[in-house]
Amino acid sequence: MPASLDRPPGLCGDFARNTSAVVGLLALLLGLSILVLPLSPLYPACNSQQILGSALTTPAAAGAAAPAAAPATAWLGAPSRAIPPNVTVMVFGGSTTFGRGVSDPANKWVESFRRAFERLTGSNVTLVNRGRGATTADYFASCFSRYLNGQPTPTVFLLEFAINGGNVTRLVESMLRSSDAPVVLVRQMACYPAIRYSSATDLDARVSWPEQREEQRTAAYVYRLHEFDFVSHVVPRYGSPCSADSLPKLFQVHEAPGQHLGDLGQRLLGEFVASELVRNWDEVFDPARRAATPHPPAFKETCFYADEVGSACAGEGAACSIENAFAPDGEGWSFVAKAGRKDKVCWQADRPGVRLTTVDPVEFFEATIYAEFTDRNPSTMELFCGNQLLKEIHLKHGMRGSMVKAAALHAACSGQKLTVVSKDAAPDQLLRVCGISMFS
Ligand SMILES: *[C@@H]1O[C@H](CO)[C@@H](O)[C@H](O)[C@H]1NC(C)=O
Ligand SMILES: *[C@@H]1O[C@H](CO)[C@@H](O)[C@H](O)[C@H]1NC(C)=O
Ligand SMILES: *[C@@H]1O[C@H](CO)[C@@H](O)[C@H](O)[C@H]1NC(C)=O
Repeated sequence: MPASLDRPPGLCGDFARNTSAVVGLLALLLGLSILVLPLSPLYPACNSQQILGSALTTPAAAGAAAPAAAPATAWLGAPSRAIPPNVTVMVFGGSTTFGRGVSDPANKWVESFRRAFERLTGSNVTLVNRGRGATTADYFASCFSRYLNGQPTPTVFLLEFAINGGNVTRLVESMLRSSDAPVVLVRQMACYPAIRYSSATDLDARVSWPEQREEQRTAAYVYRLHEFDFVSHVVPRYGSPCSADSLPKLFQVHEAPGQHLGDLGQRLLGEFVASELVRNWDEVFDPARRAATPHPPAFKETCFYADEVGSACAGEGAACSIENAFAPDGEGWSFVAKAGRKDKVCWQADRPGVRLTTVDPVEFFEATIYAEFTDRNPSTMELFCGNQLLKEIHLKHGMRGSMVKAAALHAACSGQKLTVVSKDAAPDQLLRVCGISMFS
C-alpha cells in the first residue's frame, strides 16, 4: 500500500511527500491561490484536501488548515450523527468500480472510500464490491436479491452507472423491493463516450455518453436519491479533468486513455464519496425521506440464472437454475460449464437455426436475457413467444471487445413458451444463454 494512502485524508498524498519542507508555504499559497491564482499550476496537489475541505465551513479555512493538527472527525460537526460502529457498504457499478485503471487493487476507489470513511468516523466498514466491467444497470437489476443472499445486511448501497448506463431506475426499484437500506448514486466520469474505444465493427455498441448519464440522473429524480457528483466537484476547482494536462494525472493512460480513473482519480473519488456520505448521513438515513420515496411497482420476478451463485431456487427473487428452465428443441444446444469456471453454466448453441424452448409457459411484460459469446463476431438470437417473433437481439461488444452481458426485452409474453433461436452461431461463433429474468 502506497504511503500516501496512510496519511490523513487532508494531506496532499504523493505531492506532499516531496514537498514537506515547504508545506507550510504551500498551504499559505494554496489559500491565496483560491483567491488570486489560476488553479492549474497546483493541480492536482492538495486536491483531496479541497474535496474534504468542502465539508468544512469555508474553502479558505480548508486551504489554510494544517491537516494533521485537527482530529480526523473534527469536521463532522455536531456529534449527534448516528453513524453505527459497523457499516456494510454494498457497491454496484462498472469497470472503474471493479478496479480497472489502478495499478494496485488497494487503490480502487471503493478501497479508498473505505479507508477514508473509517478514518473520518471511527466506524468499521465491510465492503461488498459487485463492480463488474462491461455491465449496465440492467445486468444487476434482474434477479437482484441473489446479491443479498449470504451477505451481511447492507447499511447503504452505492451505485456507479454514470458511464455504463442501463435502466438505473429499474435497478433502484429492485433494491427498494429487496432492502430497507438507502441507495446513493455516485457520479464519476470518463473523458470520452464509449464510442472511442468500442469495436469498430459494431455500430450499435457506440452508445452515446449523455444518454447514460441521464439514465442515472433519472433514477435520482424518480426516487429522490442523493447523487454525489464528483464531476461538478472537481471541475470548478481544477478546470477540465480531461485537458491535456489533467487527463494523464487523473486517468489511466496505458489502455483506453481517459476511460478509467487512475490511481489519483480513484483515490480522490473514494475520499470524495466518503466525505459526502458522512456529510449527508443524517439526510440519507432520515426515515422521513424513505417514507416519502415513491413505492416501486410491485412486480413479480421470475428468475432463471446460474452464473454466479449456483442454482439455489428458493425465496422471492431467488435464481432458479436455467438448466431446468429450458430444453433444446432438437439438436444444436447443450448445457456447458465455462472452461475453468464450474459455477458458470450456460446453454450454448454452435450452429444456426437451432431452438431452445422453455419447459413451461412463461408470463412477462418485460424480460432481461443474459448472454455471452466467445468470438469477436457477436451472435444474434431471435426470441419467440409461441410462434410470434418478439425480438431479434444483436449481442454487442462494449469497450475493446468486452461483452455487454444483459439484453433487455421490452415485449410481453403470456401463457406461451419462450423460444430462443440462434441465428448465426457456429463452432467458432458460439452463442450462450446464461440467464433470464422475467417481470410480470
Ligand atoms: C472494529 O473492528 C475491530 C476488529 O474487528 C474491533 O476491535 C473494533 O472494536 C471495531 N470498532 C467498532 C467501533 O466496533
Ligand atoms: C463491530 O464488528 C466487530 C467485529 O468486526 C465486533 O467486534 C463489534 O462488536 C461490532 N460492534 C457492534 C456494535 O456490533
Ligand atoms: C426503466 O425501468 C422503469 C421501471 O421498471 C420503467 O418504468 C421505464 O420505462 C424503463 N425505462 C426504459 C427506458 O426502458
